Amino acid sequence: MLSRFLVLASVAHSMVAHSYFTSQNASTLEELYGPAVSPDTEIAESTDANFSTVVGPRWSAWEAPHWSGAIKPASVHDLQEVVKISVANQIPFIATNRGHGPKLGQGQFTGININLASFNTVTLDTANNLVTVGAGVKLWDIQTTLYDAGKEIQTGNSVCPGAIGVTIGGGIGMMTGMYGLMIDALQSARIVTAKGNVVTASPLENEELFWAIRGAGVNFGIVTEATYGIHEQTNGGNVTAVTFVYAAPSNRSIWELLATFDGDQPEKLSFQAVIEYDRSSNSSEVIVQFWYFGPVTEAQPYIDLFTAVGPIVASIDYLRQTDLYYESQTSGVCDEGHIVSARTLGFNRTDVASYEAHFADMTAFYQANPDFQGISVFQYYSNRVTLQTPTSETAFPWRDIQVWWLTQDRYPDSSIEPQVDEFMAGQRANLQVTSGFSTPHVYFNYAFGDEGPAAWYSEANLPKLRELKAKWDPDYVFGNGAPLY
Ligand SMILES: Cc1cc2nc3c(=O)[nH]c(=O)nc-3n(C[C@H](O)[C@H](O)[C@H](O)COP(=O)(O)OP(=O)(O)OC[C@H]3O[C@@H](n4cnc5c(N)ncnc54)[C@H](O)[C@@H]3O)c2cc1C
Ligand SMILES: *[C@@H]1O[C@H](CO)[C@@H](O)[C@H](O)[C@H]1NC(C)=O
Ligand SMILES: *[C@@H]1O[C@H](CO)[C@@H](O)[C@H](O)[C@H]1NC(C)=O
Ligand SMILES: *[C@@H]1O[C@H](CO)[C@@H](O)[C@H](O)[C@H]1NC(C)=O
Ligand SMILES: *[C@@H]1O[C@H](CO)[C@@H](O)[C@H](O)[C@H]1NC(C)=O
Ligand SMILES: *[C@@H]1O[C@H](CO)[C@@H](O)[C@H](O)[C@H]1NC(C)=O
Ligand SMILES: *[C@@H]1O[C@H](CO)[C@@H](O)[C@H](O)[C@H]1NC(C)=O
Repeated sequence: MLSRFLVLASVAHSMVAHSYFTSQNASTLEELYGPAVSPDTEIAESTDANFSTVVGPRWSAWEAPHWSGAIKPASVHDLQEVVKISVANQIPFIATNRGHGPKLGQGQFTGININLASFNTVTLDTANNLVTVGAGVKLWDIQTTLYDAGKEIQTGNSVCPGAIGVTIGGGIGMMTGMYGLMIDALQSARIVTAKGNVVTASPLENEELFWAIRGAGVNFGIVTEATYGIHEQTNGGNVTAVTFVYAAPSNRSIWELLATFDGDQPEKLSFQAVIEYDRSSNSSEVIVQFWYFGPVTEAQPYIDLFTAVGPIVASIDYLRQTDLYYESQTSGVCDEGHIVSARTLGFNRTDVASYEAHFADMTAFYQANPDFQGISVFQYYSNRVTLQTPTSETAFPWRDIQVWWLTQDRYPDSSIEPQVDEFMAGQRANLQVTSGFSTPHVYFNYAFGDEGPAAWYSEANLPKLRELKAKWDPDYVFGNGAPLY
């Protein structure tokens, strides 16, 4: 399926190479799009000095598209015009917000970037417990607006990803245990379609499209606006956050402790175990970050369990939710411009022997590759609330995931990329065997890009998704890196 995608991408490439503009005699993007859009819409060729101020940001340097130009629409009407003109002239495009979704194959793409940054409004309706966000909003904008109003909503754990981008793939984070996925909070969306129309998708209007964008949302249009239900703050907006660092010999005991939470994780408790390597001491270690939405006294029984394993460092904080989220910024998670890809799988359970083998393999790989800076992360969120929504309700198929494994494969230059890819593909294959699922359950938003639509959306959902694709986007103008065939 990978080669199939690359073939299509190169077809797109040749369309652009012949001529930008088949239906009009324009020689620049400004001439082609400018007359149809408002003056505040920004347009630049990739060769223009101001290009970098118009193109959207990109988090990873891995598989970066070749932008021939960029357009930052100022209004939804402008966006509609940009889509219509692009489609009429067969100009491939990718609409982006925060650029946190690298996928294999994007490096083969040539076309224009539609930067959604101007749609940056967050509108709170406290009386009805709703928030409406635009396509240029990042998670931080929601987290702070709601915190200041004494409200909360489930988001991803970092401040930097695009809010709608996270949502339309599912949306997981430390409040998933309490409230489910971000798609479970979504009540309606406004979407610019391939024809350049704006439609509403909700349980009452275009309900099949609403089903599809909750999990497979990159394939059907550009979501300009999303409205979510919100909640009163838990524990006055404060959270207990603990970081434990364990030396390598403790790894098995940690995996054994994690396994005790399988199928029985408290809703207010989330954690992730991160495998990394300390280059100053030449040793691998496990860092457990633990979040509890309540006071330290309430979290103490769980803190005790992790303390009993014997961390070499333990720091306990009690802080505002916003300060916790902001740590992702200060810890460098949001830094742009590094080469980073990801491997991911969902597990049904914690297989201690597989975790231990993976830790040993990672340790050996770090030692053999002094430039490798990657990490491997096991995220644990209670799925009890997530499972209360029937699987048939949304295109997101993997509500039964208990553990979200992902790697961040980071290296300073592409010279070790072949070794990294071979090693990580092997680790993924090993971990699949004991995942508890007979076929790969892959969270699309964490995906490398080679897993294929059955792994992202489930085999069972493909006929309906393809039918909806034929209805809403028959010419495949959306969904770069996420083919449905
Ligand atoms: C540092 C970091 C932390 C992360 N943390 C989490 C986390 O805690 N939880 C989680 O669930 N995920 C997380 N992710 C993954 C994240 O959900 C995806 O990377 C998501 O695609 C990011 O959206 P974006 O707007 O930043 O990316 P972009 O690269 O701009 O967009 C990603 C894809 O979505 C499409 N898209 C973007 N906006 C729209 C729109 N409005 N309408 C239609 N299509 C659109 C784009 O065309 C592209 O195909 C994280 C990623 C990173 C890099
Ligand atoms: C483009 O220019 C050519 C030559 O000047 C002309 O014949 C043609 O009609 C023009 N097409 C459009 C769409 O304006
Ligand atoms: C960028 O520069 C080009 C060429 O000078 C100009 O036509 C265009 O209007 C500029 N765009 C913005 C957004 O400044
Ligand atoms: C929340 O934590 C902050 C910072 O530690 C503290 O100042 C505040 O009093 C706490 N509020 C509640 C409701 O616990
Ligand atoms: C770590 O390993 C490197 C490469 O093998 C070696 O040069 C260095 O001295 C080691 N450092 C320590 C603290 O053992
Ligand atoms: C996953 O594990 C749970 C119990 O932990 C079990 O009920 C369920 O059947 C498992 N699902 C699969 C697909 O194996
Ligand atoms: C992981 O823990 C087990 C049990 O203590 C130990 O035998 C093994 O060496 C550890 N792995 C590494 C890479 O240190």
